[in-house]
Amino acid sequence: MFSYRHAFHAGNHADVLKHSVLIATLQHLIAKDTALMVLDTHAGAGLYRLDGDYARTSAEAEEGVLKLAAAASAPSAAPLPSLLQNYLELVRGFNQGVQIRVYPGSPFILQHLLRERDKLKLFELHPTDLRALAGNVAQLNAGRQVAVLQEDGFEGVRRFLPPPSRRALLLCDPSYELKSDYARVPDMLQDALKRFATGTYAVWYPIIPRPEAHDLPRRLKSVASKAGKNWLHASLTVKSGAGERPGLAASGMFVINPPHTLHAALREALPCMVDLMGQDRNATHTLEAG
Ligand SMILES: C[S@@+](CC[C@H](N)C(=O)[O-])C[C@H]1O[C@@H](n2cnc3c(N)ncnc32)[C@H](O)[C@@H]1O
Repeated sequence: MFSYRHAFHAGNHADVLKHSVLIATLQHLIAKDTALMVLDTHAGAGLYRLDGDYARTSAEAEEGVLKLAAAASAPSAAPLPSLLQNYLELVRGFNQGVQIRVYPGSPFILQHLLRERDKLKLFELHPTDLRALAGNVAQLNAGRQVAVLQEDGFEGVRRFLPPPSRRALLLCDPSYELKSDYARVPDMLQDALKRFATGTYAVWYPIIPRPEAHDLPRRLKSVASKAGKNWLHASLTVKSGAGERPGLAASGMFVINPPHTLHAALREALPCMVDLMGQDRNATHTLEAG
């Protein structure tokens, strides 16, 4: 079984990038009345305590969401770009008082924004995370709006595409513990685009020194371009990958059929993410579209 537990990483710089893009994308999609189908292929536990044992072990949130929150509430702070402001506001909504102790994972972020008519399908394979996710989701009393499925997310999404309402957002956020995940992501997207060409598809990936990771953005661009679809690719590097400080140095988000507003929102927010979460002079970002 997998050993990756997202609780160790909740609220880190990669979550800030992933979740701020996810929120901006979903906010755009729900501006239209028609019901939306949202698919989260790798859901995790749904909700995390930043003062719990897992998160304290790595303290990654301190270099991510907590840094952002501290910078935003400094007396002389300039207002954050709207993409980050919306993200922080949503995270704060899960907390009482100024301290951020609870961090929403993608399932809770998504459910928080959805309307009653929208549907959310959450896929999670790991028994521990599945139990936590099912327990957390049960507290939402969301009824039939949210389904927790112990299934392979890459495979499971197929039967929900195309959705009855012909509107969908898919988040694909694997742990990439298995080398095969790097190939399964573009394969799944290629199939999804055949089933439902107008869906919005968002993929997170780690930027690490292994050939499959390096190759993934190129493969994603190829899948999108062959299907004749627009794409947006953002990456955030917070430190040198070769330095002495442990932990992930960089990650990327790739969105197919992105909202037309996302490019400008990211162009404004990415330099601010670098300023606030950068850990050394290698901190940087990229933003490209096709
Ligand atoms: C990066 S975490 C997800 C974090 C979550 N998307 C968030 O943003 O809060 C990846 C999760 O996928 C689960 N997982 C791994 N392989 C899977 C698969 N094939 N299908 C569904 N879940 C899987 C892992 O157990 C882990 O909880």
